[in-house]
Amino acid sequence: MVSLIVGNGPLLTALTSRIPPERWHVPAGAAPVEQAHWLSLQHVPPGKHGFIFTDQPAQWMPVQAAGWRIYWCDASQEPVGTEPLPEAALQRPITDMARRFWGVNIPDRRIVADVMLGHLERTGTVLTVTSNTGGVGKTVTSRRLAERAAQAGLRTLLIDGNMRQSSQRSFFDPMRNKPLHTIYEWRGGKPFPAANQGRTLGINYDISFAPPTGVTTTWRQYMMYIHEARKWWQLIIVDLDRISAADFDDETTAASSIVLPLTMGGDPCLVIVKAGIQTQGDAMGLLMAMPQAGVPRECVGIKDTIPVGMKQSEYQRFDYSRYGMFLGTEFQSEAASARIAAGQSGWADPGLDHVREAVLAWACPDIGFDPAKVKEKQKGWKL
Ligand SMILES: Nc1ncnc2c1ncn2[C@@H]1O[C@H](COP(=O)(O)OP(=O)(O)OP(=O)(O)O)[C@@H](O)[C@H]1O
Ligand SMILES: [Mg+2]
Repeated sequence: MVSLIVGNGPLLTALTSRIPPERWHVPAGAAPVEQAHWLSLQHVPPGKHGFIFTDQPAQWMPVQAAGWRIYWCDASQEPVGTEPLPEAALQRPITDMARRFWGVNIPDRRIVADVMLGHLERTGTVLTVTSNTGGVGKTVTSRRLAERAAQAGLRTLLIDGNMRQSSQRSFFDPMRNKPLHTIYEWRGGKPFPAANQGRTLGINYDISFAPPTGVTTTWRQYMMYIHEARKWWQLIIVDLDRISAADFDDETTAASSIVLPLTMGGDPCLVIVKAGIQTQGDAMGLLMAMPQAGVPRECVGIKDTIPVGMKQSEYQRFDYSRYGMFLGTEFQSEAASARIAAGQSGWADPGLDHVREAVLAWACPDIGFDPAKVKEKQKGWKL
């Protein structure tokens, strides 16, 4: 299969800027008209496939006659000889298109149709954080990711999705006596009434707490809130409870009502796995259920966490590559534990900062997160 690109509109540029030129470049002619002419002389052999993606007018009919399928990658009416992109491709992220036609993984989760129609301003990315077992550091990780993202200049909102425990509130307001805003206060429209400005809490990101004790809301309400919030914040991190494989069949769970729809729309989900043969094995159960439920593999990021007290020799890396992108192993430490207990934010942690950077580089490509640089600073550090 050969897939070539002729053009430079927003969609095609998103592809050509990431795919090696030798994979898509028409090897003759400079102007589209010349390229089309050359292509019309290259007959696609029977049984082979030749695709052309273009947004440029040219004599496409003779090219089509030579056996090429020519997809029109612009919102205008397709010229003779070309055909519109299939609906299935239009509604999927650019990532999918690059993989299908070039076998290349590119981290662009924007929907093809949106980009083609010129909706270039990205709505915020929504990163859900979950796990298969409790107490693996989802809540702390969510805060630490929000901190770093905000430091890098992203307008960031942390949403506490721990409906029953209000875990983030327990950290910022252990006595439960501060007048903080919760998602329960949101009644539609702009998302601000339910968000607390970071500076009121001494942090650099904004935060929306879970409903107060005794009051509940629905995952549907959360989704509607996220939908509004992503128009205003560039990154939204949702700290969720643990989920299980069976949850994907149960609409009342965050798995099927939050993780599934968001990832199907191209948003990333971080699954934290507790190191240990048993716990990693259990996590595989969840990871395997995700693609079966419809969660795209490229939207799943995985990190292992080694709890305090576990020796590195007891830890074995599993191969998660069939289920998602492995982003690294985090080492919990007594020092970090003491800081968390003391209510601190924003410290440098050599046990996990480069994993945090890797998660953000994966979830928000193009921002300039660079795990290699962070790792560099940590040379010489050992468990
Ligand atoms: N990097 C770390 N080093 C040491 N201890 C940590 C670290 N991160 C989290 N912890 C501790 O581990 C415990 C669990 O962390 P956290 O609440 O973030 O996990 P969780 O996965 O959100 O738990 P839950 O399943 O209850 O929501 C807490 O006591 C926290 O202080
Ligand atoms: Mg938690």
